[in-house]
Amino acid sequence: MLSRAKERVTHAKLRVQMSVAELLRAEIARHGSIPFSRFMEVALYAPEVGYYRRDRFGRAGDFYTAEQLQPVFGMLLRRWCEQQGIERVVQPGAGRAALAETFAGLGYTPIDIGYGAWPEDFRGLVLAHEFFDALPVDVAERCDGGWRERRVGVSGDRFVWTPGAAIPVGEVEEGIAVVEVPVGMERELRRIAGRMGSGHLLVLDYGYTQREQIRFPQGTLMSYRQHRAVDDVLRDPGEQDITAHVPFSGLAAAAAQYGLELVRSESMGSFLLRIGEADEFAFLELEANAERRLQLKTLLFDLGETFRALWFEKRERPVNRAPK
Ligand SMILES: C[S@@+](CC[C@H](N)C(=O)[O-])C[C@H]1O[C@@H](n2cnc3c(N)ncnc32)[C@H](O)[C@@H]1O
Repeated sequence: MLSRAKERVTHAKLRVQMSVAELLRAEIARHGSIPFSRFMEVALYAPEVGYYRRDRFGRAGDFYTAEQLQPVFGMLLRRWCEQQGIERVVQPGAGRAALAETFAGLGYTPIDIGYGAWPEDFRGLVLAHEFFDALPVDVAERCDGGWRERRVGVSGDRFVWTPGAAIPVGEVEEGIAVVEVPVGMERELRRIAGRMGSGHLLVLDYGYTQREQIRFPQGTLMSYRQHRAVDDVLRDPGEQDITAHVPFSGLAAAAAQYGLELVRSESMGSFLLRIGEADEFAFLELEANAERRLQLKTLLFDLGETFRALWFEKRERPVNRAPK
């Protein structure tokens, strides 16, 4: 008979050898259909085999992000920190920690699945760049004047959508048939506000405001593989990225509940433009550097138009003084 310890090791090894699809299939066989947030969590983050457990960035990977437009992206963020007097930066979803050099000399804590830890009660900036779009969401579909959950089941060798029970969703525009419920976003906002004594939260991401929601009547879930968009998010879990647009109005409302007040919401292009405006980007030394000029153009007018910057501030809690 195997000892308990040996049994655990053997089970761990077996788990490692299972693919994401096998893990999900086994879970659905045991418990029945699962929420999409669970499917997304396992597909992206299952130890060893989840999509983000392997390096997916850059030319050989599945996507580029602004963080790879270095040094210009980093220089702009560093400049903004100087303008705001920020001396401490925590970055959840730091990926390859491409901004480590940018923030050298400041207290910089990159955090991702598998590395980094949240500091307690810190003062400074939480930088959430392409973080919220990678967090698990549930899915709801309109039916009989209400909303019901879309869960994930198995049919033959495929993962399929299966109807679930009624599910509460926030304010949704008429004409929207499918909407994501950002369960991961709420959890992470609570964590950010809980760990930050006071300071700033800067969200740089793609998403939609309440008014723009009508552009996405079937929801915003999307997969990416080798730089191509894939509509079927249930296909090949673990082998393709899964993202949901960030619901900016919902994010701002939820953040306010945790004491994070919206200072400004604008396109990432205008946010970055404002940083360099004062001295016409002299600190980037653009005349002598064609590559930097191209990076700045991409950041201001290409990514800058599709991404949004939401800047929040959390003020120091007033100290409760005992009445005299
Ligand atoms: C789209 S990638 C962006 C990475 C990086 N910011 C960039 O732009 O290159 C999202 C990252 O968030 C990470 N992530 C997801 N959930 C997380 C969590 N709860 N805490 C920290 N990182 C997380 C993923 O592992 C992934 O590296």
